Amino acid sequence: MEYINNELHLGPKKKGLKSLTANYMRPIYVYDLDFIRARYAAMAQALKNVRIFYAMKANSNPEVMRCLKEAGAGADVVSLGEIKRALESGFGPQDLVYSGVGKTRHEITEALKLEIYQINVESLPELERVGEIARGLGKKAAIALRLNPDIDINTHPYIATGLRDNKFGMELSLVPALEACLKKYSDSLELVGLSLHLGSMMIELEGFKEALQRLRKVYLEMQNEFPTLRRFDFGGGLGIFYDRVDLVKEQELLREYAKVALDGLQDLNCELQTEPGRWLVAHAGALITQVQYIKETTQKKFVIVDAGMNHLIRPSLYEAKHLIYSLEKKSGDMVADVVGPICESSDFFAKDSLVAQVKEGDFLVISDSGAYGYSMASTYNLQELPLEVCI
Ligand SMILES: Cc1ncc(COP(=O)(O)O)c(C=O)c1O
Repeated sequence: MEYINNELHLGPKKKGLKSLTANYMRPIYVYDLDFIRARYAAMAQALKNVRIFYAMKANSNPEVMRCLKEAGAGADVVSLGEIKRALESGFGPQDLVYSGVGKTRHEITEALKLEIYQINVESLPELERVGEIARGLGKKAAIALRLNPDIDINTHPYIATGLRDNKFGMELSLVPALEACLKKYSDSLELVGLSLHLGSMMIELEGFKEALQRLRKVYLEMQNEFPTLRRFDFGGGLGIFYDRVDLVKEQELLREYAKVALDGLQDLNCELQTEPGRWLVAHAGALITQVQYIKETTQKKFVIVDAGMNHLIRPSLYEAKHLIYSLEKKSGDMVADVVGPICESSDFFAKDSLVAQVKEGDFLVISDSGAYGYSMASTYNLQELPLEVCI
């Protein structure tokens, strides 16, 4: 975000945002597709020979999806709804990796009929279910086992997924039972890969390194029994900085991440896969919202805007911080809470923060909201969903 002639501009091509508010009706998510392309290119370059499956739960806007497909991405999907959206946006079944702990019979049946590229299985009963359904359909399912290495990546507990008490993946002690199940369904299951995903907003990489070490051993052992094993999916989760603008440091973190992944896995001579979401799209998006009231109590000043936690839930759900700018540069600041219209005290975007001296009718821009923004939005309080605009 940058001010040029006192107006806020987004992305490396410095695209002005003010014109988007000309006929303003309700909050607007804006996505800079050039920025997304640039992020994808940077990641593809750092992770040479790694197939990137975009975790579309981060942002499933059709234009964003098409942009990433054209850039060369596959997609990591977690529901039949996401499979349909991916197919509608130009992805083919062979571009899709299907993750998620709760796949229903119907979803698995549809995925098998479509012959999608890979199903990342998250439990023994799920493996049994996929084997049975594939047998009934006369299909052979390409399976990756999502293993849970019990590693702490030091992130918010709600977005950690690689610990023993998380519902995700399977403990390493389950491997013998998984092998027995794969043999039982040798006609309908083909083990093609191992996968892991440790959680989101990974900024420190020690845990990731340790997880790869644990799983590479399992990979080598399992390959003796299952020579079809040929893929290693090291998940997504690379973090970004929300509390400051530091794209240079993020590029450094990306290079470090790539080094850990490639050093840890390259000698397995397998097909490497990754599932990034946030890193590709977060910075490219912003939420534009209009100030409705400035409300002062004896304790506080509130800037009440027309976007709410139903539009961007990250601050309420994860205590996430997003930098908030005034669309037009103001000369002064004030300390205030920026809150929405929703009838919950958790409906806030910032607390006791320095905010530009805005007044009723002005616009605020909540930055870095291209990931887990609109895709997590709801119509709670029967508020309309925001508009989405790609620039
Ligand atoms: C299985 C899986 N892969 C990839 C991702 C993407 O994570 P991120 O957006 O942090 O890269 C997620 C996020 O929850 C996930 O659950």
